[in-house]
Amino acid sequence: MKTLIAVSLCLTALLCGVAFGDEPVLKDVFAKHFLMGAALNDDVVSGNDVNAAAIVEKHFNTITPENVMKWGVVHPEPNKYNFAAADRLVAFGQKNKMFIVGHTLVWQNQIPRWAFVDDSNYLLGRDAMLARMKDHIFTVIGRYKGKVNGWDVVNEALSDEGTFRKTKWLETVGDDFIAKAFEYAHEADPNAELYYNDFSLDKPAKRDATVRLVKDLKSKDLRIDGVGIQGHWGMNYPSREDLEAFINAMAELGMKVMITELDVDVLPSANQYRGADINVRVELQKELNPYVNGLPDDVQQKLTDRYAELFAILVKNADKIDRVTFWGVYDKTSWLNDWPVRGRTSYPLLFDRNYKPKPAFDAVIKTTPSK
Ligand code: XIL
Repeated sequence: MKTLIAVSLCLTALLCGVAFGDEPVLKDVFAKHFLMGAALNDDVVSGNDVNAAAIVEKHFNTITPENVMKWGVVHPEPNKYNFAAADRLVAFGQKNKMFIVGHTLVWQNQIPRWAFVDDSNYLLGRDAMLARMKDHIFTVIGRYKGKVNGWDVVNEALSDEGTFRKTKWLETVGDDFIAKAFEYAHEADPNAELYYNDFSLDKPAKRDATVRLVKDLKSKDLRIDGVGIQGHWGMNYPSREDLEAFINAMAELGMKVMITELDVDVLPSANQYRGADINVRVELQKELNPYVNGLPDDVQQKLTDRYAELFAILVKNADKIDRVTFWGVYDKTSWLNDWPVRGRTSYPLLFDRNYKPKPAFDAVIKTTPSK
């Protein structure tokens, strides 16, 4: 049976033109710098995408579920939890001795409408909402206690202007919903690391708001271990200065800094928007999807240079950075094929549509002096 699996794996690899094995191993090359990871969809862990699984097992020592731990998946109805896919992901991570990140407990997206209302469809009051939040956090963290190593407790609670984002969490509970989420998460698993995660943290107003948030949580004696910079980046943002300013501000507060959702968008901007709000949508137009048949060499080179530039910054600041996680494994299944424009051909990761390491992969490897 084992031989059969091995033969069919090799056959798949040959047919798809995959050369497993000869490129350097990301997690080894960066071992002295930070953990290297990827967000996984269910196909990767369930055996439907064995080539992607092979990349993950070879190159990464930390994983994050791309979707399967979000409220809408694990808690689709009141009093009904569904952990099938999340269990598979955790088992995959444990089998491979990986650092497992839970994503995410308190977020305003990918959460069903019922979560914020009572049986008569009225918005919940503070106490009822907090009770529901606590039940959710205790149930999800409780199931993976001792298995999931760190949690994105709260995701995207700040606006780009540095105010609290106007969400149902804020409306029902008030602005201490963040503190409450961290309090419950720590109660649910005192040994788990707890993070705040957001995008566009290089924007000075958002940086300052994150500093205030971390100070506020610490002043309340709450556990917060780190802050995740999502890292949905572009060809000319963030700037080195702004990125380093954020990394330094967090390090000064004793926070672990993590790049949690890295991808680099090479496609023409649909609307000059630089954030990662999944509600932003732009209609598909031909000029927004110029590389359907592959990246021209000059664009490939620009992407390669951009990856080199970004990793040079990360390596330089490696003493403050704990983990770098890509938002996906290879270009074909990146969420950027469908966001903010549905149906584009996107090239944001280090492995191409045929699972092959791209020139950007080699450039990233070269940013570290250890190899
Ligand atoms: C994205 C997933 O990649 C998509 O598959 C899904 O349809 C929408 O959400 N910020 C986050 C992630 O914190 O959870 C989002 O993931 C991308 C933006």
